[in-house]
Formats: sequence, structure tokens, C-alpha cells
Amino acid sequence: METRSTSSWMCLYPIMWLWLISYAGSSPVSSVVHTWSGVGLQAILPCTWKSRVGASSQLPYIQWETVTDTVFERIGERSFQGEAFRNRVDVPMEMLEEGNCSLFFTDVQFGDAGIYESYLVVGQTRIKKRIFLQSVQLLVFDHKLRSSVESGKDLYLETYTSHAETLVFESSEGYGWIELWQRSKERNKNGTSRVEEVEGKLVVRSVSASDSGIYKVLDADGLALSTVRVSVTDPAPTKATVVFEKQSTFSSVSLNSPSLCVTASLLLSALILNLL
Ligand SMILES: *[C@@H]1O[C@H](CO)[C@@H](O)[C@H](O)[C@H]1NC(C)=O
Ligand SMILES: *[C@@H]1O[C@H](CO)[C@@H](O)[C@H](O)[C@H]1NC(C)=O
Repeated sequence: METRSTSSWMCLYPIMWLWLISYAGSSPVSSVVHTWSGVGLQAILPCTWKSRVGASSQLPYIQWETVTDTVFERIGERSFQGEAFRNRVDVPMEMLEEGNCSLFFTDVQFGDAGIYESYLVVGQTRIKKRIFLQSVQLLVFDHKLRSSVESGKDLYLETYTSHAETLVFESSEGYGWIELWQRSKERNKNGTSRVEEVEGKLVVRSVSASDSGIYKVLDADGLALSTVRVSVTDPAPTKATVVFEKQSTFSSVSLNSPSLCVTASLLLSALILNLL
């Protein structure tokens, strides 16, 4: 009973999200644009300003903000980045002059999700006026992947962001989660760890069957940046076994093909019925 209700809720959540998104998107009153990005990647929050005012403003003064923070401001060559967004946001000057005030975001974090608004500030030094330009909702997703690696080879896991702090693993056989790597410990390690960070990737050396399972890279808040389901496969077979396997697949294909045909035609007829 208990598990049943949780699983049905888990199904409902994405549906509710979709509904909320499409509802907001189709509402004639709201002009909110939705944009999304995987955590650690780039995002562009769209914005144009020339259509709103004459092409007169020589030094456009643009502001991007959230409800609580100033994100970015640019007056000509001078720019300001909010503390939480340092070195991660920009409105390139050349583009701004052409009327494109889109906010370029790099290394997007979960905490960046939310509503952003852009404004154009016009007028002389004394009397300034803010013209609302665009409202953008940024959604940030984690990464979910599957990977298979040959036994004896190294497993490479993308970290996506420098905010990756911890790698945890749960074996396919259970036993719960164990910590394989932690950035803070990495700094004063002395070569005992099986996991190393190499050029933005975590490398698990020489995997074996017992390394099959789920790997999660977590940020400092313990949120999963990525979840990778890894299966460790047997090493590439030698020539003799390849020949043997080829023969056996041939025989199994010829046995299976009639039933495959039946399934295919059943699917096809179902499709045609649907179309009618
Ligand atoms: C602004 O520039 C970005 C990046 O080049 C582009 O993706 C976007 O479509 C541009 N917007 C407009 C309105 O031209
Ligand atoms: C490795 O680190 C531990 C504790 O940090 C230390 O006790 C040990 O001597 C170190 N080993 C080497 C080979 O540096």
C-alpha cells in the first residue's frame, strides 16, 4: 500500500510539471519564456531591446535581476556581476549594440533555477526610467545516463561542473551507498585512491564485475549532478569465441525471425488502426 502510493506520486510529479509549464507557456497574459539547461552547462536567457525603444540609445544600459538579486548590469563597456553569479554571466557588448540583450550563463547550478527579468534603463542622469523587457524562467536538470565499460578498462564519469564534490556508488548487489571520492580529500591524498580527477572527469581505474551499479556525482549540498547506471561487460572475446558466437547468433536469428515478423506486422496494423 505504502509503496504503491509513493510510486504513483513519482509518476504524477513530472506530469504536474509539464502541465504547469504548458499552462504558463500558453497563457496569453504571461510573457514568461522558459529555458532549461543541464547542471554545469550553458544557458542563454533570451532578450531583445531595440524593438521596445527607438534605435536611439547609444549606450544601452541593461539590467538582469531575480526577485532578490542583481544578476548582471551593463552600461556600455562597464559591467557588474552579482556575487552569486561571478564569472558566470555576461551580455556581450557587440550583441547588445545590435539589440540582443540575452544573458549568457555558464556553469549553471541548481540554485540558479528561477525567474529572471531584464530591464532597459533610459533617460538622463536625473530622470531615469526602467523599461521591462523580458521575463525568463530557468529550469536546471541533473544528468541521467547509462554507460557500459569493459572489464579491466577505466570508467570515465563526467563531473560537468567544478562544484562536483563527492562520488558515491551503490553496487548492483545492494550493500547501500559508499563514498568513492571526495574533492576535499583528493587535495591531500597520497596515491591510494582508485578514483582520480582528470580534466573534468572522474576516472575509476581498472573496473571489474563488482563495479557494476549506480554512480552519483554530488555537489556540496549533496544534490546529484549526475546519475550513471554502469554495467561492466566481459572483455572482448578472442577470435575463436567470436566465430562460435556468430554461428550461434545465425541460428537464433533464423529461429526468431518469424516471431519478429509477426510482432512487426501486429505493431504496424495497430498503428494503421490508430491513424484511421
Ligand atoms: C541573441 O544571440 C544568441 C546567441 O548568439 C542567439 O541564440 C539568439 O537567438 C539571439 N537573439 C536574437 C533575438 O537575435
Ligand atoms: C598518506 O597519508 C597519511 C595520512 O594523511 C599519512 O599518515 C601517510 O604517511 C601518507 N603516506 C605517504 C606514503 O605519504
